[in-house]
Amino acid sequence: MSRETTTKEPLIVIASNRGPYSFKVNEETKELTATRGAGGLVTALGAIGGTYDVLWVAAALGKGDVEWVREHKGQPQVVDDMRIAMIVPERRRYGLYYNTIANPLLWFIQHELWDTPRQPSITASTWEAWREGYVAINRQFADAIIDVVKDSERPVLIFPQDYHLYLLPHFLREKLGDKVQIQPFLHIPWPGPDAWRILPEQMRTELLTSLLMSNRIGFQTKTDAFNFVQTCRFYLPNAHSYGSRDSIEFQRRTVSAVGYPISIDVERVEELASASSTRLIREHLISSIGDYRIILRVDRIEPSKNIVRGLEAFRALLQAHPEHRGKVKMLALLVPSRMEVEEYRTYLGRIMSEAGRINAEFSDAFYEPVRIILGQNYERALAAMQFFDVLLVNPLTDGMNLVAKEGALVNQRDGVLVLSEFAGAIYELGEHVLKISPFDVYGTAEAMHQALTMPYEERAQRAAALREIVQRAGVKEWFSRQVDDALAGMDRNRTQETKAEA
Ligand code: F6P
Repeated sequence: MSRETTTKEPLIVIASNRGPYSFKVNEETKELTATRGAGGLVTALGAIGGTYDVLWVAAALGKGDVEWVREHKGQPQVVDDMRIAMIVPERRRYGLYYNTIANPLLWFIQHELWDTPRQPSITASTWEAWREGYVAINRQFADAIIDVVKDSERPVLIFPQDYHLYLLPHFLREKLGDKVQIQPFLHIPWPGPDAWRILPEQMRTELLTSLLMSNRIGFQTKTDAFNFVQTCRFYLPNAHSYGSRDSIEFQRRTVSAVGYPISIDVERVEELASASSTRLIREHLISSIGDYRIILRVDRIEPSKNIVRGLEAFRALLQAHPEHRGKVKMLALLVPSRMEVEEYRTYLGRIMSEAGRINAEFSDAFYEPVRIILGQNYERALAAMQFFDVLLVNPLTDGMNLVAKEGALVNQRDGVLVLSEFAGAIYELGEHVLKISPFDVYGTAEAMHQALTMPYEERAQRAAALREIVQRAGVKEWFSRQVDDALAGMDRNRTQETKAEA
C-alpha cells in the first residue's frame, strides 16, 4: 500500500546489507514471491513501514533478488508498506565484503572473538578485500542512495544499519553535504579501544572518520556509546570529547553517541505467537519432545552465542544434580548462518559433537537429553518459546539479544530467563533474570538448577516483571526516538544556518 506524502514529511532511508524481503522465482509459474527476511535487524525495522515513508536500500543476495531488480529496471518498488530498492553487487566484490571483512574481521573484532596468537592474519588478500570489497560495496550503496535523494525537497534522514556499512556516512556526506541527517545505528557491541588494535591503522582511521561524518550514531547501550567515544579519542589525534561521555568533536562537527536499546514488534510477536498455525506447531513440538521440563535456547549458529559452553553447562547440570536426569531436556533451535566462513562451519561441528557426547552419556531407552533442531522457522521459535521452563541466553557478548525479549513476552510457563551479563538486554531485564558469566560453565549449570527448583511464586513474579518491561518499550518507540532526534538535529542545523546568514 503506498502512502500519500507531503513536502514536509521526512523521507526515511534505511540502508542495510540484508533487506526486509528476499525474492524467489517459482520454477513453475516463473513468478517472483517475496518472503520476509530473517535476523534481528530486519525483524525490528520491518515494523516501521506503516508509520513512516520508508525507502529501504539493501543488497540483492540471491538469484530471485537479482531477477526482481531486473524486472523493475533497478527502480524502487512498493512492497507491503515501504519502498524497496536493491543494489546488485558484483559477486566477487560481495564475497570479499561479506565473507572477509564484515564477517569475520569486523564482527570478530566487535565481539572480541579473535584468538589473537593464532588469528587473524591480515594479508595482502585482506587488504584487497578491504579495497575491492568493503570500500567498493559501501560506495555502491552510497551511489544508489544519492541517486534517489539528491533532489528531494523533503527532509531526508538516512539510517545506515550495522557494521557492513561503516563507510557510508563518508560517501554520503561527500556528495550530499549537510542537507541530510545521517544517523547510523549499530546493532552489535562496540568494544573499547583495545579491541580495535587488530584493525590496521589505515582501515581503522577510514572507518572511524567515516562514522564521524554522521550527525549522531545510535548504539544498543550507553556502554557501547561510551566505548565509541573512547575509541575515537584514542586513535584519532583530532577527535576530542572534552570530558563528555556521549559526544565527540571532530573537524568542527559535534557527533553524539546515543544509546537506543532495540526491541521487538510487541503486537506482531503476540499475534504470531497466538496464531492457530503457531499453536499447531507448539502441540507438535510438545508431543514429539515428550512431557519434560525444557531448557530452551534459540540462536543463529554463531560463535559469539556461546552454544558449546551452554551444552557443557547442561552436561555439568546433569552430572552435579542427577535428579534432573530423565526429567529435563535441552531443546536447541539453531539457525545455520554464514556457512561460507570457516569459523562458523567449525563451530557447527563442535556443537554437534558436544550434543552427541551428552546424549551418549545420559540417554536411555526413553530419554534423550539434548534435542537440536536445525533450520530457520520463526513460527517454530515462537511456538517453542511458549513452553520453556528455562530460557538460556548466554552469549559471550551481544548487542541486545532479541530472543531474551521475545521469550519473556510469549512464554506461558512462568519460565526463568538465565541471561549473560554481556548481552545488551541485561541493562533492561537484569533485575528479574538469573545473571551469569558466559565463561562460567559451573555458574551457568547452577543457575539452571536454581531456575528449575525456584518456587512457583518467585518464577511467576519474575516472568510477569519481564513481560511488562518488554511490553512497555517496543520497536516502534525505539525507531521513533531516533527519527525525533534526527528531526530535532535538522531543525538545529537550520536555525544555525539562518543565524549565520543574518
Ligand atoms: O546485528 C546483527 C545482525 O545483522 C542481525 O540482524 C542478525 O541477527 C544477524 O546479524 C544477521 O546476520 P546475516 O545477515 O549475516 O545473516
